[in-house]
Amino acid sequence: MESSLTYMQALDALRWQVEMGVSDAIGDAPLDRHAQSRAPAAAPAVARAPAPEPDPAPAPVADPGAAATLAELAQMMEALPSPLKPAARRFVFADGRPEARLMILGEAPGRDEDREGRPFVGRAGQLLDRMLAAIGIARDHPDPGQAVYIANILPWRPPANRTPSPEEIAMFLPFALRHIRLAAPEFLLLMGNTPCQALLGRAGITRLRGNWHEVQGLPALPTFHPAYLLRNPAAKRESWADLLAISRRLQP
Ligand code: URA
Repeated sequence: MESSLTYMQALDALRWQVEMGVSDAIGDAPLDRHAQSRAPAAAPAVARAPAPEPDPAPAPVADPGAAATLAELAQMMEALPSPLKPAARRFVFADGRPEARLMILGEAPGRDEDREGRPFVGRAGQLLDRMLAAIGIARDHPDPGQAVYIANILPWRPPANRTPSPEEIAMFLPFALRHIRLAAPEFLLLMGNTPCQALLGRAGITRLRGNWHEVQGLPALPTFHPAYLLRNPAAKRESWADLLAISRRLQP
């Protein structure tokens, strides 16, 4: 169908959609969901075959323990049939130096990470870089004591940056644990509730932050997510205390 919109009208329509929260184009033509729900329902089948019983213990789609290297783990994770995959642009595995003594775990890629294929590159990531720089840490620092390795619990962006569901976290948790095992850092910094829920089995970052926990035998420190700090700058004070705690542990 020929469009009768002018360029400016099309631009206005696009702006309006962005303001309404549209973040991804998933089809060339609009879908009228109301028309779909008004369509007459299919006639009920007279006799239905009994639905098959769900398998009580579905076989794991892949065994993260079989990945002997980070590259193998990345390959395995990218191939997993995750429901998040079709809506995402890029697979986001990790950034920084795997040899680093410190590993940071976040939640999931956002819009910018999905575009670039690297974790923590958007506004929150830039704040994270500045915070780390304040204690002498940089992603690719040649000294493993001043470098950092960064990953997320989920390697795919959830649509519209929604919080990952418990099922999505459960699906990727064994891979996150293997990721930690293979990178073998000395300390973990858990950014926000999602990695705490996944790795400590607890959320409630305001209470958890600033106290050391253990994940696979490694000291793990929960702290506020940098996206939270962008919305609540007053919480930077506590984050600074957490960074100093990490810095002290990293002293040679
Ligand atoms: N938030 C996260 O938790 N991870 C990212 O990579 C980006 C934003």
